[in-house]
Parts: sequence; C-alpha cells; structure tokens
Amino acid sequence: MSGFGDNLASGPALVAAGGALALGYALWEQMKFRWYRSDKNGNMLPGPSNVTPIIGGIVEMVKDPYGFWERQRLYSFPGMSWNSIVGIFTVFVTDPALSRYVFSHNSSDSLLLALHPNAEWILGKTNIAFMSGPEHKALRKSFLALFTRKALGLYVLKQDDVIRKHFTEWMQTSGPREIRPFIRDLNAYTSQEVFVGPYLDDPEEREKFSEAYRAMTDGFLAFPLLLPGTGVWKGRQGRQFIVKTLTRAAARSKVRMAGGQEPECLLDFWTKQILSDIKDAADAGQEAPFYADDKKIAETVMDFLFASQDASTASLVWTITLLAEHPDVLARVRDEQYRLRPNAEEPVTGDMLNEMHYTRQVVKEILRFRPAAPMVPMRAKAPFKLTETYTAPKGALIVPSLVAACKQGYSNPDSFDPDRFSPERAEDIKYASNFLVFGHGPHYCVGKEYAMNHLTVFLALLATSLDFPRIRSKVSDDIIYLPTLYPGDSIFNLSWRAKK
Ligand code: HEM
Ligand SMILES: *[C@@H]1O[C@H](CO)[C@@H](O)[C@H](O)[C@H]1NC(C)=O
Ligand SMILES: *[C@@H]1O[C@H](CO)[C@@H](O)[C@H](O)[C@H]1NC(C)=O
Repeated sequence: MSGFGDNLASGPALVAAGGALALGYALWEQMKFRWYRSDKNGNMLPGPSNVTPIIGGIVEMVKDPYGFWERQRLYSFPGMSWNSIVGIFTVFVTDPALSRYVFSHNSSDSLLLALHPNAEWILGKTNIAFMSGPEHKALRKSFLALFTRKALGLYVLKQDDVIRKHFTEWMQTSGPREIRPFIRDLNAYTSQEVFVGPYLDDPEEREKFSEAYRAMTDGFLAFPLLLPGTGVWKGRQGRQFIVKTLTRAAARSKVRMAGGQEPECLLDFWTKQILSDIKDAADAGQEAPFYADDKKIAETVMDFLFASQDASTASLVWTITLLAEHPDVLARVRDEQYRLRPNAEEPVTGDMLNEMHYTRQVVKEILRFRPAAPMVPMRAKAPFKLTETYTAPKGALIVPSLVAACKQGYSNPDSFDPDRFSPERAEDIKYASNFLVFGHGPHYCVGKEYAMNHLTVFLALLATSLDFPRIRSKVSDDIIYLPTLYPGDSIFNLSWRAKK
C-alpha cells in the first residue's frame, strides 16, 4: 500500500511541476512574440496586446472567422498586424503594395503557400502552387496556349451549354432551395467539360469521375485524420482515380493532336503546345520538357480542376445573391442582355461577351466586393524582410489580405456599386493594382480570364432565363468561410422567367 501513499504525495507535486512548466512556456511565448513583433527601431506591430498561450486566436477564429479577420484588418489598415494562431506567429498584411511585394517572391526558400493539411495530403506536394523558379516559369509559359481568344471562345460555348442544361435540371423541381450545392455541381461539371469533356466519353467512367471529384473536394473540409475510411482518405483515393483517368485522356489527346485534329478542350490546346515544345527541344538537342509526360499532364489538369472549384463556386453564389439583393443592377443587366441577345435561346459567344460592358462591370464589382479567396497564407521558410525596418521570423505565417486590398482606394468601398467601373469613373484603371482578387506576380491566377467569362455567361443566362427572389433569414447578411467566402445562406425561389 505504500505505493498508493507515494502517489498521493507525488500527484499534487506533479500538477505543480506541470503548472510551472506551462506557466514558464506561456511566459517564454509572450516574450518571444514581443521580440518577433518589434522592428529595428523597437516599434511593435499592431495587434492584440496579449494572446492566449499556445492556442492563440484559434478559438475566436473558428467560432467567427469573418469577425476575427475583420478585427485583424482594423488593427492596421493599410499596413500589417500580428496575431498568434495555435502559437504560430502570424503577420496579416492589409496594405496592397506590401501584399504585392509578398506575392512577388519566386523562391520556395523564401515563402511557400500554406494549405490546409488535408489539401496537402490530397493534392500532394507537386501542386503548381508549391513550384517556383525556372521550372514553374516554363510550365506557366506553356499555359499561354490554353487561354488564347480562340481557346476562350470555344470554352464559352461549352459554358453556355452546361449552364443552360443545369438550369433545366434545377427547374425539374420548383420552389425555394439553398443554391450552394446546385452551383457547386454546375461549376464542377463545367470545369470537367471544358478541361477534358471529349475524353470523359464513357458515361460510367464520367459518373465515377464526378464521384471521385466530390470525394476529393469533400476531403478538404473533413476532419484532418489520414486513416482508412476517413474523409481525407477517400479524398486521396478520389485523386488517384482522377489522375489515372486523366493520364489516359492525355495519351488520347496527344494522338489526336499529333494527327492534326482541331482542339476540342483545354487538354487538347495544351497537348498541342506540348507536342510543339517537345519538337523544339528535340531540334535543339535537348530533353523533352518535364511537363510533357502523360502522368505529369494529368496531375497538372487535376490541379486546374481543384483550382477552378472553390473560388468560382463562391463567386457564382455571390453573383445570384448580390443580383437578387440589387434589383436596380439586375434590371440594367437585363436591359443589356435583351439588347445584345434578342433571341435569348441562341448561345452566348466570345464576341458577345466583349460587348457586355455593363454585365462585365457587375462581375468585376462582385469580385471586388466579395473576393472569394479572402487571403493567401504563406509560410516563411527563412526570415522574410517585409519593410526596411521589419523582418518576419522564420516559420511565420505571412498572410496578404485580398479583402483589405479590395477596399483600398475605391470610393465608398463598402457599397456594391458596379458604376465605379464605368468608363467615366474608371476605378478599375485607377486602382488596378489593388484588385488582388486573383493574386499577383509569378503565381497569379492562371484561370482569371476563364473565370471572369464563366461568371459573365452565368449572369447573362441567369438574368434572361430565371426569376430568383431571395428567401431571407436572420443569417442571410452574415458572411461565412468555407474556407472561401459565402453568404450566411443563399436560398432562392427559382422559376422560369416569362419569355420576352
Ligand atoms: C473567381 C474565381 C477564381 C479566383 C478568385 C481565383 C483566385 C486565385 C488566387 C488568389 C490564386 C493565387 C495567386 C497568387 O498566389 O498570386 C490563384 C491561383 C491559381 N488559380 Fe485561380 N482563381 C479563380 C478561378 C480559377 C480557375 C477557373 C482556374 C482554372 C482554369 C484557376 C487556376 C489557378 C491556378 C492553376 C493557380 C495556381 C497558379 C500558380 O501557382 O502558378 N483559378 N487563383
Ligand atoms: C526571381 O526574382 C528575381 C528578383 O526579383 C529575378 O532576378 C529572377 O529572374 C526571378 N526568377 C524567376 C525564375 O522568375
Ligand atoms: C415561389 O414562387 C412561386 C411562383 O413562382 C410562388 O407560387 C410561391 O409561393 C413562392 N414560394 C415562396 C416560399 O415564396
């Protein structure tokens, strides 16, 4: 029994020792943060004066992410501010010029995109967003062929077709619905069709492909545990299936393009360019470029599928939401659409898109007013000099805020006002450098033109095809993070619009 007595005696001692350790750690952490926050002249970065030891602001952040980051922005705008997120020293950058500077880094030894651990497990470390230097530059150069006028024109026809088919499908059941999952499927289907449509010609495989893709995107939001059966695990399996399918598609596309056939999807435009890059390399006595093999092509197209999903879906949801909330803007979009497309049944073309001046202003304002990707967190792989006087420590998270950049300069930035982009006011030209919605520099969004076209075609067809009054609730005006920005809810009572 003496052991029992010993335990009684040592229990409180252990607790006391543990407490002292925790207190010691907390004090050391506070000191460390004070040190990290100070610049050369002893000035401190703005931010909370004290943070909860070890966990930092994570609880507030999870409970109310929008409120958390909005408070963080207000510590210093424009400028930068600090916080601790599970003990990770974080610098939030709200000055657009400083954000552009952060985005301009081009070496993985300085800054590296910080994705959610799930996304890293599912996508792997070979994602374009983790690349840098000459290889990344060469890969990006080969993408130019994917977004020429001709290529974008072909995609517009497919976008139009998929959107109309989905509207018809939606209208099979009438009445109010939360639109988010419907838009998510519309967007996923559009990407598949535009990127590799002709090669998903086996209906059974197509169905499995869509399922695998859903598993992959669900995996990003699942509990971060990589064990058989978990969401992340299924996401990884989904990815493997997708890459296998796309590898076969790449091989077939190369054969078609080598045979001189016309490109019918994004993959075709790319393999055509790759075949020409392979030939140029051979002529110069060099090896084929690293992105030329079928598996690498497949992985890259998968990166595209991933990159084209969340931000686009969120922006589409904002499109229907903001238009329902601004009937005056909607009326003007409708006027323009009926004028440019007297026969609303005819497909929208690339040429028509160029004439849609007001509709495009509206799309730009949707993106500025509610940037779908609110921030781009990066991890400092070495001390990172932010200004002449301040250097962030190695390991810090450096987070340019796109929301903050989009409020800088613009007149009444918190009002939804598409006229700011009219030729007279031209705020798009005046503040072009603050429009960081698609990032900046070497990793600048590859799909920008395509994404803007997608939103424009969607808005054009939505305006002429459907009536969509919003059903409001008490959370309708909230903004939620999933982790792209969405309205608190987005419930619409859809019905066909009487033909004009
Ligand atoms: C409204 C929709 C979209 C938004 C707001 C958006 C935003 C962004 C942002 C903020 C970045 C990071 C840029 C940087 O680090 O400087 C990015 C990267 C990227 N986006 Fe988009 N994006 C959208 C749609 C798309 C679409 C439709 C595609 C594909 C066709 C796409 C493909 C990519 C790719 C491949 C990258 C990585 C580029 C690289 O690391 O070199 N995005 N996007
Ligand atoms: C990276 O940036 C440096 C300086 O900003 C520049 O000299 C270099 O050419 C860039 N490298 C690549 C591969 O873009
Ligand atoms: C939805 O719209 C239909 C007519 O299009 C209407 O009869 C119905 O009452 C509306 N439902 C709600 C909940 O507003």
